[in-house]
Amino acid sequence: MNEEVILETRGVSMEFSGVRVLHSVDVKFTRGKIYGIVGENGAGKSTLMKIVSGFLQPVEGEIFVYGKKTTLNPLKAKELGIILIPQELNLVDTLRVYENIFLGNEMKSRFLFLDKKKMIEESKRLVKRFGLNISPLQFVYRLSPAQKQLIEIVKAVSKSARLLIMDEPTSALSEREVKNLFNLIRRMKEEGITVIFISHRLKEVKEIADEIIVLRDGRKVYEGRASGLTEKEIAQLMIGRHLSEMYPEKSIPKGEIVLKVENFFSADGSVKNVSFDLRKGEILGFYGLVGSGRTELMETLVGIRRKSAGRVTLHGAEVNITSPDEAKKLGIVYLPEDRKTAGIVPILEVYKNITLMNLEKYSRFLLKKDLEIEAFRRYKEKFSIVSRGPYQLVKTLSGGNQQKVVISKLVDTGARIFIFDEPTRGVDVNAKHQIYHIIRNLIDEFDATFIVVSSELPEIIGISNRVVVMRNGEVAGIVEGEGLNEKNLIYLATGVSEEG
Ligand SMILES: Nc1ncnc2c1ncn2[C@@H]1O[C@H](COP(=O)(O)OP(=O)(O)O)[C@@H](O)[C@H]1O
Ligand SMILES: [Mg+2]
Repeated sequence: MNEEVILETRGVSMEFSGVRVLHSVDVKFTRGKIYGIVGENGAGKSTLMKIVSGFLQPVEGEIFVYGKKTTLNPLKAKELGIILIPQELNLVDTLRVYENIFLGNEMKSRFLFLDKKKMIEESKRLVKRFGLNISPLQFVYRLSPAQKQLIEIVKAVSKSARLLIMDEPTSALSEREVKNLFNLIRRMKEEGITVIFISHRLKEVKEIADEIIVLRDGRKVYEGRASGLTEKEIAQLMIGRHLSEMYPEKSIPKGEIVLKVENFFSADGSVKNVSFDLRKGEILGFYGLVGSGRTELMETLVGIRRKSAGRVTLHGAEVNITSPDEAKKLGIVYLPEDRKTAGIVPILEVYKNITLMNLEKYSRFLLKKDLEIEAFRRYKEKFSIVSRGPYQLVKTLSGGNQQKVVISKLVDTGARIFIFDEPTRGVDVNAKHQIYHIIRNLIDEFDATFIVVSSELPEIIGISNRVVVMRNGEVAGIVEGEGLNEKNLIYLATGVSEEG
């Protein structure tokens, strides 16, 4: 079959201040295909995309557009139909939605007046096509980050693209919005548009892409059909090591039982007759299907939900925890599953998010702001939080860094028993790796003990000393050692074995 190549790079290399960030990259994009580009943070994805859209000039290599060697600049790229939606949003807050959509692309009427009416009409049509409920007359500063992202996409689509590049377009979007976006991408594909989709969410890439290109440390390490690789294989290519190296060596628990839970029930019936014990210095995993009661159990343990029966013994003494505050005072803290609603206060600064649970520690008559800033610096260093400074708003951090902020906040309480619910959900592979090491370091440094709830089999197997499997609110089994494998976990979680 004769495939029309839209754009091709040959031997493209890039440097910033003498540091090479792309090494002789050859990629080829053909008409009407969807390409997924994946790689860890810093792999060079955005840089490569800026080069193919003319925003950066490579230090070496050539670019061919429709088979013709071309030196690109942003204007020329745009004329050729190469449109980049950059990772950093570029809307002008003080302009209205329709003005942003047509910025630099204004429609002129006869006598060269801007045709405002036509632009508003056209914006309406485009916004609707994407199923959005945003007025073209709305000012951009009033939009949510997700809406801004979607308007960026609308803006790009309005420019008759032939090669449309989306750099991490879904990071601010909800599941529903991602679905809408994917429908739009598929429609564009049918119209013969080539789409490059960058995301660190491998599931999304697998779902939407025809072809996958993996970058690692500035090198192309894989290209091929998306259907030819599992998510796990893609992740392995991205990090260039086996996933077993993803996880730190397992700790050796001290044996001493720090927490014992017996015949524990929640008042709402979601948790039934649960018993387990937790040994100092271990990671006790909790696995189960959605709705198996894992989160409900943790919420009941820390007093978010009411318990109706059962005995909880902490360091040998029976306790009755009826609120997260009491749990905290007893040295047990909970990292919730949904960081956005329960873990962070997005509109507060990073340092405030860290000290939030411990204000008494930072106040003596007056809030000691210096102490708070000092705490920020300590945790930034300790957990490698990437933040411009204490005053950056938490909502503008990456998922992985937001999670590190929540972990800092919990560690700052002085607690030594940590309950982490899906701690690596929505963070990139690199940040996952770091979070596993943070957990391990807390165990080594403070004799901390962890309960980790996870739906990811490789993760729960990779980090846990033992795993409690839940099904329908009850403990279906507890596995360790040789028994800690995928087959057993799936069997216990579903009640169905492979053999039937
Ligand atoms: N403008 C720049 N100046 C200096 N270094 C940069 C610049 N842009 C990117 N880099 C560096 O280039 C490498 C690749 O970055 P990037 O292309 O943004 O990666 P990705 O998009 O895959 O996360 C990183 O090490 C990054 O720090
Ligand atoms: Mg990037």
